[in-house]
Amino acid sequence: MTFRLTRVLPPDDTAAALCADVLYGLTRTPKTLPPKWLYDAHGSELFEQITQLPTYPVGRAELGLLLLHARDIAEQTGACSLIELGSGSSQKTRLLLDALPGLHTYVPVDVSESALRQAGQTLLIERPALSVHALIADFTGALTLPQTPGPRLVAFLGSTIGNLLPAERATFLTSVRALLAPGDTLLLGTDLVKDESVLVAAYDDALTAKFNKNVLAVINRELGADFDPDAFAHVALWDAGHEWIEMRLRSLTEQTVKIPALGLAVDFADGEDLRTEISAKFRKQGLRRELAAAGLTVEHVWTSPGQGYGLALAAPSRGGTRTEHATSGSTGLQATGLPS
Ligand code: SAH
Ligand code: TRP
Repeated sequence: MTFRLTRVLPPDDTAAALCADVLYGLTRTPKTLPPKWLYDAHGSELFEQITQLPTYPVGRAELGLLLLHARDIAEQTGACSLIELGSGSSQKTRLLLDALPGLHTYVPVDVSESALRQAGQTLLIERPALSVHALIADFTGALTLPQTPGPRLVAFLGSTIGNLLPAERATFLTSVRALLAPGDTLLLGTDLVKDESVLVAAYDDALTAKFNKNVLAVINRELGADFDPDAFAHVALWDAGHEWIEMRLRSLTEQTVKIPALGLAVDFADGEDLRTEISAKFRKQGLRRELAAAGLTVEHVWTSPGQGYGLALAAPSRGGTRTEHATSGSTGLQATGLPS
């Protein structure tokens, strides 16, 4: 097997993007930050621990569905290349890797270099025949994929799609659609709307609080800021109107945080919230509609026994006006450009 790691974004781009996001997010009302900054090496490690918590059912539900249906998915897709967005530890993905007999190349894509390296090292030992080309890249921005043999299966698991705002989701799905040629497919994991107490419990524990506050440590380290994590409380609440969980950091006092790299001082009122992440929950009909709007037709949805989680397999809609393997535009994902 071969393992290659390509940084699609140069490191200073990442620093510039962090500066831009912090400047934008902390100078507006209400204050917000994009969730991708939660995942440095420490954040990725904390996330892996969260997936083991009994109160966090997403990982287990999805694992259960893959255990039951990986062979169906393999048969329906016949994939020779598996591209996984936000791959993390690639733990659950092993079930897909094992089920796909014709798989030639696995392309894990993540902003977390440490997660990609660790997953790559393990796969190197466990899957000697597999070619792995990992990409350090932001799936919400322009992404250039290596040219790999079709059919392609793009997997987006862990309900990570729920961490995008509705407008971001629409842009993202359209970009994914542009990657798919006839015969290619998208496998999408989505946490479904369920009882509020169950939903909140999944995001309201000491470990998730630590994970949420990690974004402050990232800003302190990268931008020389002086956030005191103890001066903020972790908040997880259910927004019934939007049907999403919101994770926030609530200032426990009136305070001013200095961010020297930006020449910025940010005032927080006592009780003021900083939104760090949303986690939208889905309904099957709404999901079909969103996918259809992006030119994707749902071919199958597998749901967990309690109907709490869904895995959808979608393919490019027939008769759509979209081009095959579109490569245009500076935003969105591109199908070609890197050697395989
Ligand atoms: N798929 C794994 C991990 C889910 S956690 C699972 O189901 O367990 C979300 C993953 O997406 C993390 O590994 C995080 O580093 C990555 N991620 C978050 N935002 C990202 C972005 N904008 N671009 C690329 N990767 C991102
Ligand atoms: N995609 C996951 C989700 O929304 C990410 C996640 C799980 C998460 N637990 C979290 C993000 C806790 C932040 C905090 O379910």
